[in-house]
Amino acid sequence: MSYVHEDIDEVLVGQEEIQEKISDLAKQITEDYRDKDLLLVGVLKGAFVFMSDLAREIQLPIEFDFMAVSSYGSSTKSSGVVRILKDLDYEITARHVLLVEDIIDSGLTISYLLRYLKARGPASLEICSLFWKKGEQAVPLDVKYPGFEIPPVFVVGYGLDYAERYRNLPYIGVLKPSAYGAEAEKTDPSAP
Ligand code: IMP
Ligand code: MG
Repeated sequence: MSYVHEDIDEVLVGQEEIQEKISDLAKQITEDYRDKDLLLVGVLKGAFVFMSDLAREIQLPIEFDFMAVSSYGSSTKSSGVVRILKDLDYEITARHVLLVEDIIDSGLTISYLLRYLKARGPASLEICSLFWKKGEQAVPLDVKYPGFEIPPVFVVGYGLDYAERYRNLPYIGVLKPSAYGAEAEKTDPSAP
């Protein structure tokens, strides 16, 4: 076991389960967009692992673009403030856009992005999110391609980070309390 795996208390959704779900989602997307020109828009950084696996299962000639937003800093609670760090490279007017997100918690990030992108007049705009937290959404959201509903706890892995770490785990899980402690010690020399 490597050092990153040792920090995990419990695996919530395993590698195989994730890959099976991605296969199902990609099949559905392939059918729905068969005669359309599809642009996948990934929300960096978290969605890059999911988008990479999803895109390779979609049997259509798709294009990629990315947005980078910041809503969390390095804490584990949503600030509700969305900052656009990187906008799209291409125009989306009259294009079929599928927004690819790692996880929906309060839903504030994705609903902000929906409004922001809708204003540019895409032909269609849908959401694909691999995880969403049960009962946490502050705003009603129509997620056309949902993955897993998970309990409202802080998770890492499969693109999701705590203080930029653990994105490379092939599953999602809950961190041991000692992993948070180790981070505090590293970043705050005054921490006990
Ligand atoms: P929301 O705006 O509250 O829906 O939060 C969405 C964003 O917060 C996601 O795109 C993630 O980047 C981040 N996030 C939410 N929950 C978690 C988590 O449990 N672990 C790591 N990042 C999370
Ligand atoms: Mg994200």
